[in-house]
Amino acid sequence: MAGFLDQIEPLKQAAIAELRAAPDLTTLEQARVNHLGVHGKFTALMKQLGALPKEEKPAAGKAVNSVKIELEALLVQQRRELELKAALPQEPTDFTLPGRRRLVGKIHPLTQVTEDIVRSFRKIGFAVADGPEVEDDYHCFDALNTPADHPARDAQDTFYLQAHASTGSPAKGSDPKFLLRTHTSSVQIRVMQSQTPPVRIIVPGRVYRRDNADATHNPTFHQVEGLYVDRQVTVGDLKGTVEFVFRELMGPETRIRFRPHYFSYTEPSFEIDFSSALTRRMGKEWLEIAGCGMVHPQVFENVGYDPEVWTGWAFGFGIERIAMIRYGINDIRLFYENDVRFLKQF
Ligand code: DAH
Repeated sequence: MAGFLDQIEPLKQAAIAELRAAPDLTTLEQARVNHLGVHGKFTALMKQLGALPKEEKPAAGKAVNSVKIELEALLVQQRRELELKAALPQEPTDFTLPGRRRLVGKIHPLTQVTEDIVRSFRKIGFAVADGPEVEDDYHCFDALNTPADHPARDAQDTFYLQAHASTGSPAKGSDPKFLLRTHTSSVQIRVMQSQTPPVRIIVPGRVYRRDNADATHNPTFHQVEGLYVDRQVTVGDLKGTVEFVFRELMGPETRIRFRPHYFSYTEPSFEIDFSSALTRRMGKEWLEIAGCGMVHPQVFENVGYDPEVWTGWAFGFGIERIAMIRYGINDIRLFYENDVRFLKQF
């Protein structure tokens, strides 16, 4: 018995010394194997327990066990310290290094252009109005003097909805059809139905058409609508306003011209072309950019404005098209792919 117990202390001290001295995790593991592993020195001592006389076993077992617990605790502690040490940087910190740059998100180019357009119109007293994207055919077409056989209403051009959705404002007529709005012009009607003149609004928003996606088309895109109603409004007011805004958007030497066109909700109607360094960069002097005209008297009738008293103009244009010309982008689909390599350039 005395012989057995005498062996414990030196083995314990040897194990402690080796565990404490380990400079890294590999050496620590080696120390564990040496002493507490299957063939370790301390394990060998424990194996001798079985050979002791029966009456000596309890005391010897107790002594050996408490040392084993002590060594295992030391092992855990050493391991934790060495793991911590391994996680720390090896090199001393260089406080003169530049800071880490945080990646900050950017505003989408379409949103940037929309905000610029809104800012320009705000300067001359326009307010932003909004309307539903799920629209009824009355607000999208009928009230805009667009007859039922007009090609814009063709099921091929438009996403009609099967279920009757609620658009917040009841449509006239007995059986309204619901659709994703094909243009922001429907908001002209909603605004005029809900307020008395004068009106000075712009409406940026999303619109939908059954177009196949290609470099210049996408079934979803964005427009800005403008509507101005007051007494004695003229085409000159329209032209001056459009010129002001386009010069802000496309540069101070931008020129615009009106070409006669047809829209059922304006009379006369025009298409707007503009010319600037940007159009010349694209190899063209003039580029078509918007539709506009003087609000048709029938539209005023439809919303309960007296066309003998009130006059006005309206316009609409595509935001993607402005952004493409402005930034020299040749494929509209780039706006919707959300590829950071594209988006971070703006
Ligand atoms: N709604 C037309 C379109 O989507 C654009 C437009 C043309 C709007 C003339 C107008 C307008 O307000 O007067 O192509």
